[in-house]
Amino acid sequence: MDTLTLTRPDDWHLHLRDGPVLEHVVPWSAERFGRAIVMPNLIPPVVTTEQARAYRDRILAATPADSGFQPLMTLYLTDNTTPAEIERAAACGWVHAVKLYPAGATTNSDSGVTDIARCADALDAMAEQGLGLCIHGEVTRPETDIFDREKLFLHERLAPLLERHPRLRVVLEHLTTADAVDFVRQGPERLGATITPQHLLLNRNALLAGGIRPHHYCLPILKRERDREALVEAAVSGHPRFFLGTDSAPHARGAKESACGCAGVFSAPLAIELYAEVFDEAGALARLEEFAALHGADFYGLPRNPDTITLERAPRSVPDQLPYATETIIPMRAGGTVAWRLKSANPAP
Ligand code: NCD
Ligand code: ZN
Repeated sequence: MDTLTLTRPDDWHLHLRDGPVLEHVVPWSAERFGRAIVMPNLIPPVVTTEQARAYRDRILAATPADSGFQPLMTLYLTDNTTPAEIERAAACGWVHAVKLYPAGATTNSDSGVTDIARCADALDAMAEQGLGLCIHGEVTRPETDIFDREKLFLHERLAPLLERHPRLRVVLEHLTTADAVDFVRQGPERLGATITPQHLLLNRNALLAGGIRPHHYCLPILKRERDREALVEAAVSGHPRFFLGTDSAPHARGAKESACGCAGVFSAPLAIELYAEVFDEAGALARLEEFAALHGADFYGLPRNPDTITLERAPRSVPDQLPYATETIIPMRAGGTVAWRLKSANPAP
């Protein structure tokens, strides 16, 4: 099988940023994906439906007109999010989830939630309105080892949250551990999970062995090889609650190559191609469509995309760097090759 045509995929976890970089970031995703859940961790964060509307307009202005790409907006949950704001978000029709960042967990999360109990009313309103919660699942105690933060979140925070809000739909974002895979498998039907290309392709040696590689630094941090293997197994398993979310997180080159570099891997320019490599390597290409295009739409209760894309097994070189407004950005695999390429995007029949 040297070409593969699949229902157009969606990206269920994406950072697009704001301002002049939008036109350098959005087209990569729009070329490949039909829709994307757009993360709200701007400065200041997107906390109201009104802010989400304005941000959506700026994204659409940077979206190539013929792509048909739809940004699915999210609100940033804070200790002060009100049930009334949740009702506004649910009523507008284009906010599709609310994002929970534990305060201090990652890039631009200072306004995040300090104690999930403070959000109980907002979470009840979300369950009532059918609005899902996307979670950055890491504990944030500074004394907790960074490699243990996801594992500890599962039983300390996520299990009680699921119990306290029995009708809330939850997506655990960017899984990085075998523990998280097990937790999701054993969890209720209303618990889904996204998996990034970097966590499927790399382990922590790619970050730390033979020199520090700041472009492989992301949060949650890359884990062990056995974790990577568990993630691949979950992604290719056909289990309907695992689906594609790139967590493509652009930062300018200078912000990454720094004494205190930002977390985030920029995979948007080759995202679906990287997932194709993973599935090909696992002998599971026939399962790529479910993971990339069907499971997420079904979980979010949205129609599957009517159009398709065609991928071709043909190596493509990845540029050393790309333009990023007045700066440059280093994509994942920069200067290397990717084994698959996007051959065409095909309109709906
Ligand atoms: C994301 C970012 O840069 O916004 N960074 C990352 O390493 N994934 C934030 C996030 O999703 O944690
Ligand atoms: Zn993210």
